[in-house]
Amino acid sequence: MADHAPQKVDPSIGRGFQWTAENAELAKAIVAKYPEGRQQSAAMPLLDLAQRQFGDQNGGHAWLPVPVIEYVADYLGMPYIRLYEVASFYTMYNLNPVGVHHVQLCGTTPCWLKGADEVMRACKDMGLEKGKTTEDGLFTLTEVECLGACVNAPMVQINDDFYEDLTYDTTKAVLEALKKGEQPKPGPQVDRQFAAPQGGPTTLTDMVK
Ligand code: FES
Repeated sequence: MADHAPQKVDPSIGRGFQWTAENAELAKAIVAKYPEGRQQSAAMPLLDLAQRQFGDQNGGHAWLPVPVIEYVADYLGMPYIRLYEVASFYTMYNLNPVGVHHVQLCGTTPCWLKGADEVMRACKDMGLEKGKTTEDGLFTLTEVECLGACVNAPMVQINDDFYEDLTYDTTKAVLEALKKGEQPKPGPQVDRQFAAPQGGPTTLTDMVK
């Protein structure tokens, strides 16, 4: 099950947050997409923008401390609790500090049947613990529900990238590369294009030619 409960953190973290000049423009443009009086519809993209900005300003630790959510709520003219309800519903918003690489491991049935336990075992062997951040601040491991890539199960999302068709070995390889500061190739970790059959097309092969 996804674990999303906020922990106790220093309440001063995030105080004084405000949009950078660039994000202030972006926030204005996002809000302008919605009809007059419906600016609260921009809640989700603005929470995402705030989380990314906070991460950029804090060594890659992209999460949403309470003062940051309050800032966005004020910006949209809505009560904090309404915005908190949104932020606490979706696992894409981190209510707790996260490492530079936030590993979201899908544990829902298709991924589980295809070997999510092995992916979890590789994470554990790399020192990651569910719901925790490694001491070096590099990795946080969160178990989440289906991320919509079941055809490439089992998979993890690490920050904005999906790593799919994972095994114990390929999971370890991805994490080791990130630890070394490298950028492993996202997507399927086997020989297939997106969700196409492994080893190339098996139907409509003439069309491919
Ligand atoms: S079950 Fe894992 S992506 Fe859907």
